Amino acid sequence: MAEEAVLGYLENNNEIRDSGDFAAERGIDHNEIVNVIKSLHGFRYVDAEDIKRETWVLTDEGNNYANVGSPEVQLMLAIPPQGISRDELQKNLGPTVFKIGCAQAAKNKWVEMGKQLISKKVEHVEDRVKDLLLQIQQGQGIGSDDIKALKARKLIVPQTWKGYSVKKGPSYAPKRKKVVTDLTRDNFQSGEWKELEFKEYNYSAKGQPLEGGHLHPLLKVRCQIKQIFLCMGFEEMPTNNYVESSFWNFDSLFQPQQHPARDSHDTFFLDAPSTTKELPEDYVQRVKQIHEYGGYGSRGYTYDWKREEANKNLLRTHTTAVSSRMLYQLAQKPFSPKKYFSIDRVFRNEAVDRTHLAEFHQIEGLVCDRGLTLCDLIGVLHDFFSRLGMTKLKFKPAYNPYTEPSMEIFSYHEGFKKWVEVGNSGMFRPEMLRPMGLPEDVQVIAWGLSLERPTMIMYGIDNIRDLFGHKVDLGLIKKNPICRLGID
Ligand code: PHE
Repeated sequence: MAEEAVLGYLENNNEIRDSGDFAAERGIDHNEIVNVIKSLHGFRYVDAEDIKRETWVLTDEGNNYANVGSPEVQLMLAIPPQGISRDELQKNLGPTVFKIGCAQAAKNKWVEMGKQLISKKVEHVEDRVKDLLLQIQQGQGIGSDDIKALKARKLIVPQTWKGYSVKKGPSYAPKRKKVVTDLTRDNFQSGEWKELEFKEYNYSAKGQPLEGGHLHPLLKVRCQIKQIFLCMGFEEMPTNNYVESSFWNFDSLFQPQQHPARDSHDTFFLDAPSTTKELPEDYVQRVKQIHEYGGYGSRGYTYDWKREEANKNLLRTHTTAVSSRMLYQLAQKPFSPKKYFSIDRVFRNEAVDRTHLAEFHQIEGLVCDRGLTLCDLIGVLHDFFSRLGMTKLKFKPAYNPYTEPSMEIFSYHEGFKKWVEVGNSGMFRPEMLRPMGLPEDVQVIAWGLSLERPTMIMYGIDNIRDLFGHKVDLGLIKKNPICRLGID
């Protein structure tokens, strides 16, 4: 109806001067007219020029006074001929109307503000404010002094009104022609194609949103980090077992059985099956031996090593458990150097907060070769982290039961302008490697970091619960940008 009105009017008239007046005269909603004009303009049926007008609209407070009257008149109506005490008047009117009403009525010299009593100086007053507000509400113009006063009282605010003036466009027709979007076999056969008008391609239209699967940011970053490891010649370790025995998770790593990390406060132990079925017995004996009495130049921990502790099943607390299995397997064959990596989930019984969940992903890399030194570790870390875009690194001595020396890794974050911890590393101890059967001159350098930390930094997420878990916004998964780390 709006479209017919616009096209029909232009058939006999030169111009629609003001879309606002045009809409009002025909009782059509102005927004509807505006939409039609925009659409007709797009197809060049009409030419349109913007019109802008400053108008005034009532604020909530203004609307309220337009309904119930200004506070000063409310106040006047509440004062009896003999006057009234301040307290009582305030009680009757409420504090806001009382305060504003007093100020305005005093300014108008309508009232006598005595110490005790408030009384009227004039009998009859007109509610000009209310009348002015009603006029504005009805779209009528009022004087500039009144506008100023109402604006100062925050009863009205300016609003820009937007409309159009409209003329015939180059493709004007009194009725919109149906444009064809597909050319069919029938069009050809009937010869109709000669007359048809085709819809033009809109090259700037957006495509349909993809409704297929979407990679979670963690998976995107994982994918990139995997590429980095592969570029550096690392092989991926199989990490498809969340459940591990304490033996592989702790004992094989020379972590003593009294270590606090082995407490149920830190580790999730399994109820069923609560223990592992099999372990390589001769290796278990060598591990027991090294814990209890030492060897290979170590004094061991000199305590009673218990098989039952080692048998307990748990959710692995680090992927170093997998590294340990892999190194043990490597030691069963004639030695060949290896570079291994893994990226998978680990579990810790932690209090959940902005930066911690009870599960997260670990990235782990290791190099196993003859004669490796701490310099090799530092070199590999520089190589690896620079590919992640972290070129400034610092190392701080640290402690892990299974590495000596151990180093925490810090990287200078240009955005945060400070050093942030990005990982942990070290050289696996002989107490771990020798019982496995690796030759004496073989060293293993290794490092680990979380996948969540760099992902949160990269995607600007500061609460881990917005990244992982049931509270994650599905929109984030659909809309997060692709991730590219510098791959050489
Ligand atoms: N397992 C360590 C951790 O959980 C990381 C690490 C891996 C440290 C390898 C040293 C060597 O943080």
